[in-house]
Amino acid sequence: MSAPFGAYQAEIYLRGLDGVTPAFTTDAGALEESARRVLEPGPFWYVAGAAGVGATAAANREAFDRWRIVPRMLREATRRDLSTTVLGTAMPAPVLIAPVGVQSILHPDGELATARAAAALGLPMVLSTAASYTIEEVARASGDGPRWYQLYWPNDDDVCASILGRAKAAGFTTLVVTLDTWTLAWRPHDLDGAYLPFLRGVGTAIPFSDPVFRAGLARAPEDDLTAAVLRWVPMFTGTDKSWDRLPFLREHWSGPIVLKGILHPDDARRAADAGLDGVIVSNHGGRQVDGAIASLDALPGVVEAVGDRLTVLFDSGIRTGADVVKALALGARSVLIGRPVAYGLAHGGESGVRHVLRSLLADLDLTVGLSGCRTLSELTRELLVPS
Ligand SMILES: Cc1cc2nc3c(=O)[nH]c(=O)nc-3n(C[C@H](O)[C@H](O)[C@H](O)COP(=O)(O)O)c2cc1C
Repeated sequence: MSAPFGAYQAEIYLRGLDGVTPAFTTDAGALEESARRVLEPGPFWYVAGAAGVGATAAANREAFDRWRIVPRMLREATRRDLSTTVLGTAMPAPVLIAPVGVQSILHPDGELATARAAAALGLPMVLSTAASYTIEEVARASGDGPRWYQLYWPNDDDVCASILGRAKAAGFTTLVVTLDTWTLAWRPHDLDGAYLPFLRGVGTAIPFSDPVFRAGLARAPEDDLTAAVLRWVPMFTGTDKSWDRLPFLREHWSGPIVLKGILHPDDARRAADAGLDGVIVSNHGGRQVDGAIASLDALPGVVEAVGDRLTVLFDSGIRTGADVVKALALGARSVLIGRPVAYGLAHGGESGVRHVLRSLLADLDLTVGLSGCRTLSELTRELLVPS
């Protein structure tokens, strides 16, 4: 039986008796606006912004609104167990921390704070290749916590193999390969401020600490930042790959491999045919193809195509407990949380991330119970109606 996440609600009310209120909002809908007040415009828009006019980012949220939960009564839902195991990773709730790069623009502790908060709750963190701390530093901060590694697939095979070897050695168990960001989309909020942290050597800790990458430089990144940036940027962005390159990853990664950014059922079928272990239905939070299908609208088709062959995960637009319930009821095995974690980090480092995650888990726990369910297996399509 997992921890009663809903108890965070009582904890907050009881602390109120001593005049203590939460450090910042518990309202998932108000979090972005609250983060705007604590961040500089560059970092804020790097997180909140999307591709184009934000049509897909908005569609991600609207898609959740088109499904409604129909709660059931008198079902002895007092005690819930939200725990599950995904690709061999046990977790107390079907929630992972999405890979989010360059977290030091939000708080000096960056990914270390996120790793500590995730580990304290037992939730898996997916570490981005674009992190501001090294693989080994984040692994230390994560301690016994479960962790997966997200790859932005470098064009240089030797650098790629080296990074994968380091991730494996540092205890990252599942590999998440992000396919939808082989080049950056048109992001007006970042363009208008000419804001791209990588060009200043922020979010480059993983390659810059990599022995194979460093061996290819005339001078170390600490001595010649520009040369290191100019070698890394074209190595991890700008070149699309093909399906026949996937065996290379299998050769260099012994654990489960998941493809992130899958929206078409045929791509999901190809992933299954290629012997992969899972897919993440995601449109990168509307940050890549503006006008792309809402991630939740893509989910049922992918589940129908490969749900019996692959582990199907979901992100893009999850903000509340009800959102998690809907995604699971539509067939996702687990969800990933992106922007809300970034906003929590901006508010208060590790404690800010913990507050956001505990709020989401409490909301999820209460919503599951009040819907008349006790375990994840009861979150099925029958719980929902289109609205
Ligand atoms: C600031 C920011 C940075 C991100 N960096 C990465 C990354 O490095 N790798 C990756 O696979 N996805 C990255 N993503 C996408 C997230 O993993 C996830 O797909 C997305 O945040 C989901 O949308 P949502 O946050 O609106 O729910 C990033 C998202 C944001 C907001």
